[in-house]
Amino acid sequence: MHNAWYNVALDNRLHLATLRPGPLRILDIGYGTGIWAVEMKKIYPDSEIIAIDIGNDHPTVDEDGHPVHHGVDWRPGVDFMQEDWGLKDGSFDFIHAGMRWKLGRLHPQISGQAEFLELDWTPRCDVATSPASSDVSRWWQAMKIASTSLGKPLDYPADIETLVRRAGCTVLNHRVIDVQTAEDLFNLNADDPQIRITHWYRIFMFTPAYKTLNGMSMALLTRQLGWTPADVAALVLRVNYQLNLTHSPYYHNL
Ligand SMILES: C[S@@+](CC[C@H](N)C(=O)[O-])C[C@H]1O[C@@H](n2cnc3c(N)ncnc32)[C@H](O)[C@@H]1O
Repeated sequence: MHNAWYNVALDNRLHLATLRPGPLRILDIGYGTGIWAVEMKKIYPDSEIIAIDIGNDHPTVDEDGHPVHHGVDWRPGVDFMQEDWGLKDGSFDFIHAGMRWKLGRLHPQISGQAEFLELDWTPRCDVATSPASSDVSRWWQAMKIASTSLGKPLDYPADIETLVRRAGCTVLNHRVIDVQTAEDLFNLNADDPQIRITHWYRIFMFTPAYKTLNGMSMALLTRQLGWTPADVAALVLRVNYQLNLTHSPYYHNL
């Protein structure tokens, strides 16, 4: 899934920005498994790469159990919601934030050229087949209300660029890629980026064992809206069916 986003959104690169030659100072915000930071270090071995995250899922040992750091300065336990990110020098040549960053929360003491990669889970539909009463619309409406009441809205404002500007940034480039929920049965070209990203999306979303939609929805809708687990499970089942249909008109924006 990670590779699909990066390969398609960034044209098989780790970044779109043109970086100056020479050792760089790079920041990865919310490093997750740490794949991006590790790959960047391979491409820019002389660069300093600092990676921050509230979690600690970065690689710490190799296959033989020996400690590894891959040349990355891992900083787990950093909460973006807090004032102090523990960075004495906030000036970077390049800043990367992949997924769930929620644009606009750039720390005021951090500066540099930045790239944000985001998936907006809003199920979009261009044809008039998604009335407000449809299961998909009802589900997404409930998810928006529940996540907003928690202070972590899942949806993105329509004008993301304005949000980025308000955060004090100059927008140089904004690329939007549609991630269709259904496979295009008339295009079997496995190299087509659109096909590849849909393929990975579908594995992530519709492999029954992953229970992805259920996992996204259950805690939010039961805790925030007081739905019963049975009601959530029943709606999620129908939404899953609709998104997975051969001729599903839905797509998300990456
Ligand atoms: C969806 S993962 C993305 C990981 C990686 N950047 C990628 O693109 O694969 C989002 C990451 O943000 C981190 N995160 C979420 N909220 C955070 C917070 N308040 N402070 C620090 N890290 C946070 C999570 O721990 C998680 O590793």
